[in-house]
Formats: sequence, C-alpha cells, structure tokens
Amino acid sequence: MVPEQLLAWLKQANRISVLTGAGMSAESGVPTFRDSDSSLWSRYDPMTMATPEAFEEDPQMVWAWYLHRMRLIRAVEPNSGHLALASLGVRRHVEIVTQNVDDLHERAGSTVLAHLHGSLFETRCFDCDEPVHLDLPELDAEDDVPERVQPPFCNRCGGLIRPGVVWFGEILPPDAFERSMDACTNSDLMLVVGTSGIVQPAATLPLVAGGAGVPLVEINPVETNISDEMDICWRVTAAEGLPLLLDALDA
Ligand code: OAD
Repeated sequence: MVPEQLLAWLKQANRISVLTGAGMSAESGVPTFRDSDSSLWSRYDPMTMATPEAFEEDPQMVWAWYLHRMRLIRAVEPNSGHLALASLGVRRHVEIVTQNVDDLHERAGSTVLAHLHGSLFETRCFDCDEPVHLDLPELDAEDDVPERVQPPFCNRCGGLIRPGVVWFGEILPPDAFERSMDACTNSDLMLVVGTSGIVQPAATLPLVAGGAGVPLVEINPVETNISDEMDICWRVTAAEGLPLLLDALDA
C-alpha cells in the first residue's frame, strides 16, 4: 500500500525531484555497491579499480573491468521502477538526479537532469579530456571479457580512452551538483530511491532540500544512513513501489 501522506503530497506536487542510487537498477540485474555479498565493492577494492591512479598504474586491468560492467548494462533492461518514473514524467515535472552510471533511466524514456557520477558509455581521453564515442565490438562478443584489455587510443593526442565515470578523488561533472541542488530544493516532493546515502556530496541533496521544507520520501527496503532525515520511509523496492505510486496517482 502506498503511504497515504505520500499519495497526498504526490497529488499536489507539480515538481518532483528524484535522487536515485544503485538500488534503482538492482532489479534489472545490476549489482549494487555495498549492501550484499554480491555488491561490487565487496568483490573488488575500489582503490584498485576506480581511481585515476589505478588507471595510470594498470590501464588494461581497469579498462577490462569497465568493459565487463558496460557489457552487463547493455544486456539488461530498465525495470518497472524506471518505467514508472518515466510515466510519472509525463504527468508531472520530474527531475531525476542519479548516481548511477548506467543508462537505464534514459532507456526507460526519462530525461536525466544530472548523472552525478558520470556515465559509463560517455568515454573520453584520459589525457586531453576529449569526448570519444566508441563503437565497442567487445560488448557484443560472446566470450567473456578477458582480465586485461588495452584501452583504445585518442585520435587527437594519443592518450588512453577511459570510461566516463567519476572516480574516487575526482570532481563531479561541471554544474551537475548545482543543477541537482537547484532542482531538489525547488521541488514540491523529493523521492530518494535505492541509495545508501553514504557517498557525498549526493547524500547532501535530500538534507538540504529537507531543510528548505521539501517533503522527503525514502524508497528502499532497508534503513539507510539518511533514513532519519526522511519524512516517510517506505520499505519497498524500486520496482515494486514506483509502479504502485503511479497506479495510485492514476486511480
Ligand atoms: P549502494 O550500493 O551504496 O546502496 C544501494 C542501496 O540500494 C542500499 O541502501 C540498498 O538497501 C538499496 N537497494 C537494494 N536493492 C534495492 C531495490 N530493489 N530497490 C530499492 N533500493 C534497493 O549504492 P549508492 O548509494 O548508489 O559511486 O552508492 C553511491 C555511490 O557509491 C555510487 O554511485 C558509486 C559508489 O562508490 C561512484 O562510482 C563514484
């Protein structure tokens, strides 16, 4: 059942901001980062995979890991939660801020206001920063991605091509945080879906929006680092809860 107060807020809201994290894509089959034994960071040390230093030290290993993740994303589909958010966007002004580097919101039909942690497929040169669109046949190959793969070279400067994600120690994409803060603090309702609320500055967004009087609703099966800040914690998964919310709005 959709919490009554949430439905009341939703019915009145013109502008809805949504912060999504890895749990949003979990039911599509994309592993989260922290919350189980199969999470990405419980199987790999982020410092060996997700830092500029790691790429400089062993670009073939890091590129292979990202190819593996790109291939995984290519093979999965948006879930009913992504689809419900896209449908909500037809009925209301919905601004999605995601920490996810996948493209499942877009493939469901949403426009994403900000990819705070970048996008896997927006590859660019490690040295000169030139965006480089890659056609990667490896992503369609039948064999497993080998443990090491040579990253392609930049046509402009000869540097190595890197994934378009934000690595630890790097700054967020230009303006992404400002745009997100503006959207969240000026919304009538903020949904916080599938994030542990551990990584900054993303986790600050609901706190500041809440401080500005925006009602905050967490959609997550378990308690998180920021649950205490929420007005409502709805203990449901993204793919279960968001379609229920849409149905209730349409009923
Ligand atoms: P986490 O892995 O830290 O947290 C995932 C959250 O999703 C947890 O709170 C789970 O309870 C929740 N969850 C799991 N399954 C769910 C489902 N089906 N529906 C709803 N919620 C579900 O992921 P993030 O908070 O996104 O950064 O992590 C933030 C950042 O940490 C990532 O963007 C990544 C990582 O380091 C970078 O790569 C820069």
